[in-house]
Amino acid sequence: MKPGRILITCAKGITPFLKEELLHLGFPVLSETIAGVATEGTIDDTLRLNLLLRTAHRVLFLLSDFTARDADELYREMSEISWEDYISEDGYVCVTSSVDHPGIRDTRYANVKSKDAIVDRIREKRGKRPDSGPDQDRAVVNLYWKGDQCSVYIDTSGEPLSRRGYRKIPMGAPMQETLAAAVVLATGWDGSGHFVNPMCGSGTLAIEAAFIALNRAPGLQRNNYGFMHIKGFNEQLWSGLRAQAKKQAEKTLQCRIIVTDISREAVDAARRNAATAGVEHLIEFAVCDYSETSVPQGSGIVILNPEYGDRMGRIRELESVYAGIGDFFKQKCRGYTGYIFTGNADLAKKVGLRAKRRIPFFNSRIECRLLAYELYEGSRKIKETKMS
Ligand SMILES: C[S@@+](CC[C@H](N)C(=O)[O-])C[C@H]1O[C@@H](n2cnc3c(N)ncnc32)[C@H](O)[C@@H]1O
Repeated sequence: MKPGRILITCAKGITPFLKEELLHLGFPVLSETIAGVATEGTIDDTLRLNLLLRTAHRVLFLLSDFTARDADELYREMSEISWEDYISEDGYVCVTSSVDHPGIRDTRYANVKSKDAIVDRIREKRGKRPDSGPDQDRAVVNLYWKGDQCSVYIDTSGEPLSRRGYRKIPMGAPMQETLAAAVVLATGWDGSGHFVNPMCGSGTLAIEAAFIALNRAPGLQRNNYGFMHIKGFNEQLWSGLRAQAKKQAEKTLQCRIIVTDISREAVDAARRNAATAGVEHLIEFAVCDYSETSVPQGSGIVILNPEYGDRMGRIRELESVYAGIGDFFKQKCRGYTGYIFTGNADLAKKVGLRAKRRIPFFNSRIECRLLAYELYEGSRKIKETKMS
């Protein structure tokens, strides 16, 4: 099978973590943008990438690059691709696109033109055309059109990879699974110390942390991907990859994972999501105020994702919560590294501790920071400053 270009998209700002994952899996990094990395490999390689990448959003396999000055040229060029080799006449296809072209005001127009070219070509070659529509749970074709340059990909993920399949109950303002994985990777946590997560919400951070510590493939839970609807899908390879991933995953942890939330509903949701993810037995759950969370003797990380006033909660009320987190860190978390993930820099100042690292992220469009605080044990003084 011929290797080709593979474009892996991710949430804005996550590229450094995606790059690291790719290199670790033995794939080259050919180029990168703020929301994606290009590598190379065969369409079979995309199965492995979909199964193993924690921070990727979609894995796109390049079919063709061409020039199109207008929609008619797009149709003509699209018709040149041998779609009958990829999509069954009895199947279903969805076209998605990202278009930056002065003559195209509505991306839906580019989608329809592309879809027409695909189904017309298949009807001409096979005497029948596949169904088409907006659902991304079968064959998905992606068009990237900027200026007069087009790239056409098979979206081998279909539904985005953040939909791991375990989060049946999202509580208010849940973090995307892929973002949560990147946040845990950014802390460097590997399961050798404890993982304490007050304000757990739907439990996404703790579930992703458990996957990371177990070396468990994030895609094992999902039973549908775009590549399964592309002709020539190598089912044997897929079951082999899944079996190998299951074999390589640890069954137990050396550390404790503790999650708490003031809302009973949130803790119930976190528990049920963890059960669906198959890691409930590895996590300790409790309903309590964050400040009452029991932090075990020893070391590890304590990570909180408090509300930051954009979608929930009022800023004024939150000021005392952030100040309280600083006190909680000082009084109960010595020996640990404390982390706060927030989209409000002013609220973060209320914590009253000096952050040793500030790692940038985006949660949807909101610029966020993962702030790290070293909470020294015993006689070593906590680094404190007056924040204005
Ligand atoms: C932004 S959400 C966390 C979202 C979470 N990262 C997720 O992926 O679902 C903040 C959570 O903090 C909880 N919370 C708010 N005030 C709290 C307090 N004083 N003590 C403990 N939990 C609190 C809320 O119930 C909510 O579940």
